[in-house]
Amino acid sequence: MPTRLSLPYRIIEGGFLDCARRGLVPPWAPDRFWRLLEVEPDFLKQTRWRKHFVSKLARLTGHDREKIEDYLQEGMAAPEFNRLREQLQGEAAIHGGLEASCGLAIYITIRALQPKVVVETGVAGGASSTYILLALAHNGVGRLYSVDLPAYQAPREGIVFSPGSSKVIEFPRGKDVGWLVPGHLRSRWRLSLGPSREVLPGLIHELEDLDLFFHDSDHSYENIRFELQTVWSSLRTGGFLTGDNVYWNTAWQDFLRGVSHGPLVGFCMDLGRAPRTAFTRKRG
Ligand SMILES: C[S@@+](CC[C@H](N)C(=O)[O-])C[C@H]1O[C@@H](n2cnc3c(N)ncnc32)[C@H](O)[C@@H]1O
Repeated sequence: MPTRLSLPYRIIEGGFLDCARRGLVPPWAPDRFWRLLEVEPDFLKQTRWRKHFVSKLARLTGHDREKIEDYLQEGMAAPEFNRLREQLQGEAAIHGGLEASCGLAIYITIRALQPKVVVETGVAGGASSTYILLALAHNGVGRLYSVDLPAYQAPREGIVFSPGSSKVIEFPRGKDVGWLVPGHLRSRWRLSLGPSREVLPGLIHELEDLDLFFHDSDHSYENIRFELQTVWSSLRTGGFLTGDNVYWNTAWQDFLRGVSHGPLVGFCMDLGRAPRTAFTRKRG
């Protein structure tokens, strides 16, 4: 029976996180504490948090820290990254856009992995798609296949909603799914519109080998299990399963219990709420 895991988060929202912000919680604290902290968006400017972030990614990808630091600097210096951050704080202040640290973790993983085929479910404005496509562009190889529901015009004038999402996504007037993705990154991108339950099986069949899957669509227990089950057999050994809001229920843990995989590493620190983006690798 799936359970929600969010109980402790609201309780500690005041005191513990305040301590963390003031520097009283060390970066080597156990993962379950560390991932509760949101020092977003500026935590990467703080040396100790940055070192921890880089070390985790080095362990996850098998690359040395210097290389990961290079990728991090490259990602943060990219005009596309900075423009996206401005948009997410301004006109695109939608609920659901991937936070900068999660996006950078995905960016760096893709730079390190050099994947040929990446699939994501859940595009909304296209924050995660932009991070992925930027990394693929810098790699000079690879394509992204994304799946989302078609946006539709809601009764309230000027706002487009995505139905079926766990929350309502508000788009600025006249914008459509993926509108944040810059035009020059779109040549490596194919967006398919429809429920993942209908679109994903055919897509995976067509692609055969998959290097990285990112789940950020409907986070219901059933849908997560369905998507992970659908992509697993096509995911190559050493390939990555990643997702946002991985700890909202036990779907990920329950699925992973039955397959051979590396550690599940959580990345995004979301103030007072459950941790966000997590990664694991398929083992042979
Ligand atoms: C949290 S948002 C995605 C955020 C996005 N990854 C980003 O970084 O901005 C969730 C998205 O999942 C889509 N979605 C919800 N249910 C879906 C389904 N069954 N199949 C495909 N997409 C779905 C919604 O339309 C919404 O755009």
